Amino acid sequence: MELINNASLKDFTTFGVEAACDHLYRVEDYEELKLAVQYLERPLILGGGSNVLPIGDIHRNVLRIEMKGIHLLEDGDQPIIGVAAGEVWHDFVMWALRNDLGGVENLSLIPGTMGAAPMQNIGAYGVELESVFHSLQAIEIGTGKVRVFFKEECKFGYRDSIFKKEVKDKYVITGVNLQLTRDHKLNTTYGAIQDVLIEKGISHPTIHDVSDAVVSIRQSKLPDPKVIGNAGSFFKNPVIPTEQFEKIKEMHPSLPGYPAEVGLTKVPAGWLIEQSGWKGYRKGNAGCYEKQALVLVNHGGARGEEIWELAQDIISSVKDKFQIELNPEVNLWGNEK
Ligand code: FAD
Ligand code: EPU
Repeated sequence: MELINNASLKDFTTFGVEAACDHLYRVEDYEELKLAVQYLERPLILGGGSNVLPIGDIHRNVLRIEMKGIHLLEDGDQPIIGVAAGEVWHDFVMWALRNDLGGVENLSLIPGTMGAAPMQNIGAYGVELESVFHSLQAIEIGTGKVRVFFKEECKFGYRDSIFKKEVKDKYVITGVNLQLTRDHKLNTTYGAIQDVLIEKGISHPTIHDVSDAVVSIRQSKLPDPKVIGNAGSFFKNPVIPTEQFEKIKEMHPSLPGYPAEVGLTKVPAGWLIEQSGWKGYRKGNAGCYEKQALVLVNHGGARGEEIWELAQDIISSVKDKFQIELNPEVNLWGNEK
């Protein structure tokens, strides 16, 4: 375990905002992690830093999870693969493709680590982690007790899980077990995937073709954090009562909406933000990305406070115009009351 005192979180988060952190521990060893979570006071857990915005300096112990390893746990038609929390998510997707295992191809190129994936039940292009999730291992912070969470216990929802609610900040996830397929059932229902496949003249796609299509769509829309700091979608897409959706649609007929649970409709926050006039807006070094209004960006040298101020301005302007409250998807650090 390597300890960096007075570390800069700029190098460990994709927003790239300047923020000092008193003690950053890089943990590659499971037993060391177990000891650390018992003895360090209220540690913050960090993976790839692609869904975190530090606001100001962080006077906490930060544990960066870097344990590696991918193992076949159970073979068969739907093999179960055990993956250490520090594995990079996209590297795992590539591993699955190399082994002709399906189920995660639509989730290609999502940044971050395996351990963070269950936190918000990562999702893209019509698929969410829960569709391949089997179970996970975690260590309880404070006691060091090991616990297994099976799928039902994780209470997965849209960008949601038990780890963001009932047991928030109580566990560090150390490994995730995923159940993949050998007999692939492709999901190409998300419009843009079909368009790319047709454009390429592919009528019988493989999991590799779907992954390639997803990668090219993502690269055309989303900013590369190595070039421009960001954390993907800053806000969740709001899910509102269908009745409210229909009323707003009467005034704004182009409002898109997707059916959610019974009586609820999901509305794209990117549309609401664009219609409120923010797309491409820049104030100082913080901005709203010109190709995707849902992504807030650091044009270079922005502080976390600046990004968060812009986010709050967007929240109140969307509220004024549409009476819809946006909620951040990104985890705000240093903002805890
Ligand atoms: P971090 O940012 O390090 O942490 C995120 C949260 O999880 C924090 O609260 C942290 O404390 C906690 N955490 C991290 N690791 C652990 C662990 N081992 N145990 C317990 N808690 C932990 N997300 C999507 O769902 N779909 C997308 O399509 C998508 N696209 C993106 C595109 C871009 C360009 C970017 C920058 C981000 C995107 N994201 C997307 C968000 C991000 O990739 C995911 O949320 C990812 O799972 C975060 O992983 P991470 O390792 O970087 O987590
Ligand atoms: N839209 C606009 N203007 C914009 C952006 C979007 O009008 O500037 C509207 C369009 O109508 C578009 C619709 O929003 O058709 C949906 O846009 P897009 O397909 O880009 O998806 P999204 O809802 O903005 C969500 C996820 C992404 C995920 C993509 C693909 C959330 C919060 N975001 O974005 O996840 O990659 O779908 O499945 O659910 C992330 O979580 O960080 C993330 C990038």
